[in-house]
Amino acid sequence: MKIGIIGSGYVGLVTGVCFAHLGNDVICVDNDLQKVAMLRKGKVPIYEPGLSEMIRQNRLEKRLSFSTSIAEAVDFADVIFISVNTPPKENGEADLSSVENVAREIARNLKEYRLIVEKSTVPVQTGEWIYKTIRENHKKGAQFDVASNPEFLREGSAIHDFLQPDRIVIGVSSTKAETILKKLYAPLKAPIVVTDIKSAELIKHASNSFLATKIAFINAVGRVCDAAGADVEQVAKGLGLDPRIGPSFLKAGVGFGGFCFPKDLSAFYRMSEKLGVKFGLLKEVLDINEDQKQYFVQKIENALWNLKGKTLGVLGLAFKPDTDDMRFAPSITIIESLQREGVHIQAYDPQAMAKARPVLKKVKFVRDPYQAAAGADALVVLTEWCEFKNLDFERVKKSMRHPVLFDGRNMFDPKELKKMGFQYHGIGRGA
Ligand code: UDX
Repeated sequence: MKIGIIGSGYVGLVTGVCFAHLGNDVICVDNDLQKVAMLRKGKVPIYEPGLSEMIRQNRLEKRLSFSTSIAEAVDFADVIFISVNTPPKENGEADLSSVENVAREIARNLKEYRLIVEKSTVPVQTGEWIYKTIRENHKKGAQFDVASNPEFLREGSAIHDFLQPDRIVIGVSSTKAETILKKLYAPLKAPIVVTDIKSAELIKHASNSFLATKIAFINAVGRVCDAAGADVEQVAKGLGLDPRIGPSFLKAGVGFGGFCFPKDLSAFYRMSEKLGVKFGLLKEVLDINEDQKQYFVQKIENALWNLKGKTLGVLGLAFKPDTDDMRFAPSITIIESLQREGVHIQAYDPQAMAKARPVLKKVKFVRDPYQAAAGADALVVLTEWCEFKNLDFERVKKSMRHPVLFDGRNMFDPKELKKMGFQYHGIGRGA
């Protein structure tokens, strides 16, 4: 099939490349001229394992191109995906102005039937607005359908998530749209859930909110564990083996970040409020997540007594491993809170330092984990990068002023580290 992707950010780029990989002809559009120029040169603006090789391969095989023109994509493609940014407004609502602008631009260029699919995470009823906008702005006679096809891509494993999905959700209002999307996704051999457009939109917000709720829940349980002297890791194991609960997303830590969970939860909360539905649970999840970062800072202060003038080595800045994404990363709030107390920060992250530099002021960025530990009063783990697992802790200990470790992701075995002479503080591990 011929596919147009409007918006070549994280989701659009991965979606476009994967469709090309499946044998479709894809044109990815973005209004950022610099980004398009970069992509045409084979440079990828984000770090996502496997993505640049896949782009290179599909460009070589002439199935993937980049453009700044929506008109070109509308002329070329049978199916057009809208995957532009829907950033949060001050009040938490999703800002849909880019979606509206794209819909209008598609309408102006519509000459024959096109299926327009919303891929961006949008509040329920956005599909209706897209339909209305296109209908009001398009040339007479051109046929079109609108559909919803939410993405469930995790950063760091987005290609795998696209090519081996648990399910594909398509929200449609015509058999024609259903047939096209089923044909497009047929090679993936995954269960396809066909719904109306509004239900598909809600599946996305409800899924992300539910996952975030699990994390907030286990973090709150972790605080009880700390207070009572229990171990949240053991509690999570016992909980997760119940198939009605499941083991995933029960990892206690310094809280969730990233561009999806915080934004989607706020947007879902605001949307429910607008629809007259009280959904205080979502607000509580957001509050627990904010508190969790301060809880960790407090833990550090309780253990080190005075923070003023002390040096902390930070391992990991990205909101999770295998990405360079700093958006809504818990590290930002935690580091800023520590700096307000007069702490010097020396930090290392395997991928995110370039993106962290403009965000985190007065941080000394170092070249490896050992430099982060050198001369530090304590070491603080904020992202569970695999490379930290194999650190030589004897070397780390020798270079530190005091061997104290705050493991914000519960990635290390407390017993082992204590045996080596470290003072260990995890989350919900009774200390
Ligand atoms: C999420 C959804 O998983 C994905 O389906 C959606 O389409 C986009 O949003 P992503 O934001 O890439 O993906 O990351 P995810 O792996 O879900 O983690 C989100 C945050 O939760 C991270 O900060 C992570 O560290 C944190 N997390 C996750 C926990 O603290 N504990 C857990 O058990 C799981």
